[in-house]
Amino acid sequence: MKKKKIKSIAVMTGGGDCPGLNAVIRAVTKTAISKYGLEVWGVEDGYIGLIENRMRRLAFGDVSNILTVGGTILGTSNIANAFKFPVKNKNGKIQLKDLSDKCVEHLEEHGVDALVCIGGDGTMASAADFAKKGVVVMGVPKTIDNDLYGTEVTFGFDTAVTTATEAIDKIHTTASSHHRVMIVEVMGRYAGWIALHSGIASGSDVILIPEIPYKLDKICKFVQERSARGKQFSIIVAAEGAKEKGGKLVVKRTLVHSPDPIRLGGIANVLASQISEKTDLECRAVVLGHIQRGGTPTPYDRALATGFGYKAIELLMSGVKNHLVVHKNGQLSSIPLWRVAGKVRKVPRNHHLIKAGLGVKTSFGI
Ligand code: F6P
Repeated sequence: MKKKKIKSIAVMTGGGDCPGLNAVIRAVTKTAISKYGLEVWGVEDGYIGLIENRMRRLAFGDVSNILTVGGTILGTSNIANAFKFPVKNKNGKIQLKDLSDKCVEHLEEHGVDALVCIGGDGTMASAADFAKKGVVVMGVPKTIDNDLYGTEVTFGFDTAVTTATEAIDKIHTTASSHHRVMIVEVMGRYAGWIALHSGIASGSDVILIPEIPYKLDKICKFVQERSARGKQFSIIVAAEGAKEKGGKLVVKRTLVHSPDPIRLGGIANVLASQISEKTDLECRAVVLGHIQRGGTPTPYDRALATGFGYKAIELLMSGVKNHLVVHKNGQLSSIPLWRVAGKVRKVPRNHHLIKAGLGVKTSFGI
């Protein structure tokens, strides 16, 4: 793509969906049209839409009334990588092909001068690869997991924490009525942000995160002691990526051709059977799953997403390219995409919420 003045942009959403995607699409489109008179294209279903040349013009009216709506009006995919796309050959065998040239052709065909990629680490890794091919890109940080490197917060995280906390609050009453140990599994992949925040916010008794491998005996002792003190129920929040010290991650499925093939899941059920066996306490597992990705974004996420979308266009129009918009020290700025690719932002061991949790006698299973 030649260096020229930006007159037309495309916007796409990649990776798992997340509350606030529509708020970014709205902010990007409205700012681009009303402030700069740009033409805006919406790419359908993430990188698949670029491969298959599926994009549609977005007018101001197309993005009205979507600020509060969950999901993405453009569709998304978390299994498509244009640089390694699974294609069936004549013998029916799957081969991984680099279809990125096609994507560039499709963008040029539509006269697109810059691509706004809204997504998490997988989307940003591909965006960085497209930048290497000469496409002008701008990334916007999305993920409920809050694990994107370079930004202190991603939109969608606050909504997921709110959803998880509300669910755990409800689980409290049934745990208490039945004198049970309830193990609530939350998402987050290899980072414990959702578990840590929802666990602290709900006053959960045990919080298990990937960054602090747990000891089963310590958890059992903790819930037994609670029981002995007359606290006849316990709530354990387990991140899907939590694992026992020296143990393995619990994997739910492997999607071989996905850029991120491992899907975690199942830790709550594993813990429920192990704890009930070792303690004689009645345990139940609750897996919150994709509920955490759905629903209307919280006011915080709506505002954050709107700020991110606006900033993406401002940066592009001021000549910045191939960057990710980030939130740092209460301000929006940006960092080069190549610095983000391939990294995961984990919970630091000295995080203030871990200290606060320990202060109020929450167990981290150690
Ligand atoms: O990255 C978002 C996320 O919801 C993770 O928390 C979770 O591990 C994964 O996506 C689930 O992916 P899928 O929707 O493919 O099951």
